Amino acid sequence: MNIPFVDLKTQYQALKPEIQRRINDVLEHGQYIMGPEVAELEERLASYTGAKHCITVSSGTDALLISLMALGIGRDDEVITTPFTFAATAEVIVLLGAKPVFVDIDAATCNIDAGKIEAAITARTKAIMPVSLYGQPADMDEINAIAARHGNIPVIEDAAQSFGANYKGSKSCNLSTIGCTSFFPSKPLGCYGDGGAIFTSDDSIAQACREIRVHGQSKRYWHTRVGLGGRMDTLQCAIVLAKLERFEWEVAQRIEVGASYNRLMDELGVDRVQQRSDRTSMFAQYTILVEHRDKIQHSLQAIGIPTAVHYPVPLNDQPAYGSFGSSSDTPVSNAVAKRVMSLPMSADSSQVVERVAAGVRGALLGLASKKSGEPS
Ligand SMILES: Cc1ncc(COP(=O)(O)O)c(C=O)c1O
Repeated sequence: MNIPFVDLKTQYQALKPEIQRRINDVLEHGQYIMGPEVAELEERLASYTGAKHCITVSSGTDALLISLMALGIGRDDEVITTPFTFAATAEVIVLLGAKPVFVDIDAATCNIDAGKIEAAITARTKAIMPVSLYGQPADMDEINAIAARHGNIPVIEDAAQSFGANYKGSKSCNLSTIGCTSFFPSKPLGCYGDGGAIFTSDDSIAQACREIRVHGQSKRYWHTRVGLGGRMDTLQCAIVLAKLERFEWEVAQRIEVGASYNRLMDELGVDRVQQRSDRTSMFAQYTILVEHRDKIQHSLQAIGIPTAVHYPVPLNDQPAYGSFGSSSDTPVSNAVAKRVMSLPMSADSSQVVERVAAGVRGALLGLASKKSGEPS
């Protein structure tokens, strides 16, 4: 039987009555845009993270874009970020005419190397945008301290993969000036389409984000700034509300599945992303590092175990972002991108972890025997 890479079907079966009740409520009241579920979700998520404000938006990408717009970032400004992330992180910077300044990652965690940020700061640096990759918060204390030393540069945590994670007792999304998350279906907290949220405890940033999300309006047909159509649909908010019903259980399950994978991969001697002891990861992806990745992916696929690569090419080597440097400037990202491989992972994956690990073991043995010339 094929293992799902992200098991959304089991989750749906577990939450079916609540999801259907929530969808039905929206269909009955008919307020598809900015209906009551939007404010309800924002209150629930603000209180979950501890941030003063939560502003739901149309996607994780728009959460980042609106945040940068709220900070007034534009032409010729610089934003420090990582090249080892999904394209959206840098895309929003470039869309505003600003320049992404790529800082290399830490080989152990694959998060931005905080020790290399200070050297990249210039008079034009208007924000620092670390990504809490694979669901593990970046080194936010160190990054916030650097930002404070350089005139309180705003720090935006791209927490698209880390909603629910803890960092030294605080929640991801509430670790810096702004936190942005995504409710893309496969994310740790997902809806059934596109959605995202911005978190901040700064009243004026929150107000700017709320206005930008509705075409820059401070009141109906009064456009105080340039904005966009960036609202999250009421139906998608209703689905996230339903998913909150078992979210704490899912957080615990993800941590458990991640710990089982860690143990099994360590037993096999497989290199993996390391978790820091002062934070938890949501394991949005469970990622190992291997040589001969294509061959291993192929062997696993043949026995019904899907894998994925997050991410095969650092952004500074992508055609769209090549004018902002190259991965030869960020050798760790360059090396890691050739080796990372993610395994099936979701809150309902506990039953498949052993089988996946056995598959990885078999694929590695197959490679080793081919190398030594023995039949595999
Ligand atoms: C690190 C990161 N940033 C931003 C995004 C964008 O989120 P969305 O797909 O909701 O626009 C994603 C989603 O894949 C992501 O993984």
